[in-house]
Amino acid sequence: MNANLVSEVRSAFEEAGQGHVFNFWDRLSQEERKHLLKQACQIDLTRLKDASREALGQAGSVNDSDADLEPAPWIPLPSGVDSTRLWEEAEGIGEELLNAGKIAAFTVAGGQGTRLGFNGPKGAFPITPVSQKSLFQLFAEKIKAAQMRFEKPIMWFIMTSEINDEATKKFFIGNDNFGLSSSKIRFLRQGMMPAIRPTGEIILERPDRISMNPDGHGGFFRAVVDNGVAEEMRNAGIETISYFQVDNPLAPFLEPAFLGFHSMSGSEMSSRAAHKKGPDEKVGVFCKRNGNLSVIEYSDLPDNLARLRSEDGDLVFNAGNLAMHAIDLAFVERIGKNKGIYKLPYHSAKKKVPTVDAQGCKVTPKKPNGIKLETFVFDAIPLAKAPCIVEVCRADAFSPVKNAEGDDSIATCRSDQLRKYARWVKEAGGELPIDETGEPNISFEITPQFADSQDEFTRRWRDKSNLCIEDGLILD
Ligand code: UD1
Repeated sequence: MNANLVSEVRSAFEEAGQGHVFNFWDRLSQEERKHLLKQACQIDLTRLKDASREALGQAGSVNDSDADLEPAPWIPLPSGVDSTRLWEEAEGIGEELLNAGKIAAFTVAGGQGTRLGFNGPKGAFPITPVSQKSLFQLFAEKIKAAQMRFEKPIMWFIMTSEINDEATKKFFIGNDNFGLSSSKIRFLRQGMMPAIRPTGEIILERPDRISMNPDGHGGFFRAVVDNGVAEEMRNAGIETISYFQVDNPLAPFLEPAFLGFHSMSGSEMSSRAAHKKGPDEKVGVFCKRNGNLSVIEYSDLPDNLARLRSEDGDLVFNAGNLAMHAIDLAFVERIGKNKGIYKLPYHSAKKKVPTVDAQGCKVTPKKPNGIKLETFVFDAIPLAKAPCIVEVCRADAFSPVKNAEGDDSIATCRSDQLRKYARWVKEAGGELPIDETGEPNISFEITPQFADSQDEFTRRWRDKSNLCIEDGLILD
């Protein structure tokens, strides 16, 4: 081991007030020392200092005196002749962009998925109601379906993290990349940040190991720049990234109209929104904060504002953040370089972080003892030129799987898929018994190859007028 490097790194940590990271150095084996040194070298101490200062001093919530908080304007779903014409125009423009190969799909899949209790990358979770296809397979099929429709192949970027990178790649290899060409799939790893104590000290998970976490989905910007992906995208002619989360099997991430609106409004970062289910739904809301379009996270929106209703009974802060964005590559590069005003703030999340005591013995905390530092992708919205928000039909586009049970769970997500299929069938003129929530009493599936939008489904249904929907049917 390079003695100079060790002493350099140790002094830098001492100077930063983080010398305790090497408290057990003398009793570590060579292998353990190597590991600890490698982790220490990955940490940018200046960035950590700024992040800790920001996150520890930050009151994320909006207090009542924040008078300048308004609901965000958005482009609603088409409802009359004029707006239908506008949506058609946007669709045409989006199709041109897709035909020209200017759009890439981008999935953020670096999170831990702790709430789901699934032992593996979240994207490997089986989610469709009949064939139990994984989230990744479903996205791959949506891309394949789009490739049949547009003239250029679509690149798919998948952001992983140290905790699931290997398992994610193995899952793809084990499934032959779901029939997509490996040259069109690109994995990239996001950065990691150490967990800290409320005092700002880095937490040791073991005598030889720093407790590290993925740096939040805002790490997407840096990951694109640092891994040389921005350059690859540019060389491939990609101009806009269609960003979505791995937890939402319904995400319509290649829908032309949204991409068209993004382009028509000269926006650098556009977002999809839908009406919140109710005041307690755990989604961020779009708003104008001090004049700037922003997302306020559900945990930061004061209860009185979350429950505020207009005269017609609608929630005032109603535009739910579905975590689907169209983001221009040039803007991604600007944020990813993290210079000047183009920096994302750090947020803190209190966690129970396993650690060691002064003797190096394991400590399992019973209450939160540490802080996870993360940046959020949507904090880039106020930094973007002309950001715009476009409504999407919620029932077609959003049912995240986040929890093992309860809201946004495996059961709600499967039921939502069935309701969507049943609605498509019924509105196309088919017969199907449904309950009062719109859920059919049988399970069936419509694959993206068969139809990936209601319009397409209606066309195909009419071509195949003898179709009979039965339990277990997979329309392929
Ligand atoms: C998120 C949004 C919320 C939005 C909701 C929609 C935040 C803070 N809030 O909530 O505004 O309404 O989704 O479903 O994100 N991820 C990474 N790397 C990380 C952390 C997360 O890739 O370091 C990915 C996860 O794999 C997942 C997604 O980001 O795909 C969402 O992360 P999660 O922490 O589950 O966000 P939510 O609290 O559900």
